[in-house]
Amino acid sequence: MEFVRLLLVFLHLLGMGMLIAMFFVQRRAGADAPLNKGWLHGSALQLLTGVALMGLAPLTDQDYDNIKIGVKLLVLVVIGGLVAVNLSKPKPATWLTPTLAGLVVVNVGIAVFWT
Ligand code: HEM
Repeated sequence: MEFVRLLLVFLHLLGMGMLIAMFFVQRRAGADAPLNKGWLHGSALQLLTGVALMGLAPLTDQDYDNIKIGVKLLVLVVIGGLVAVNLSKPKPATWLTPTLAGLVVVNVGIAVFWT
């Protein structure tokens, strides 16, 4: 079971890397480019792997802080909501990309510093 947890953490970290990479992909595409679908896929990966880690906690002998995870989930819901609302727009607002990246960094900070 420990291998499953490590596999999920591995995918969770790749998802984080993907979301950070999306910031640079989006900037490279220019201000007139529509929102890249990678934001959606990265967010979905974080949600799936995070929920799976939580769900398997009794089997993997983990004791996660529910409030910490709840706050991370809330931040991800905001990220996902902003992505969902803006995906169909031909040109997203200029504040969107830095805001999404900032929220991702907030979640990394919560994951690491909230002990
Ligand atoms: C943008 C969204 C997210 C980012 C960037 C993120 C980032 C991270 C990072 C960097 C870690 C590793 C921390 C460490 O080992 O010290 C981590 C662990 C974890 N995350 Fe997330 N996370 C996100 C969303 C979520 C969500 C939505 C959930 C749950 C619903 C979640 C659940 C967890 C759990 C349970 C762990 C601990 C895994 C373990 O060590 O066994 N995460 N996250």
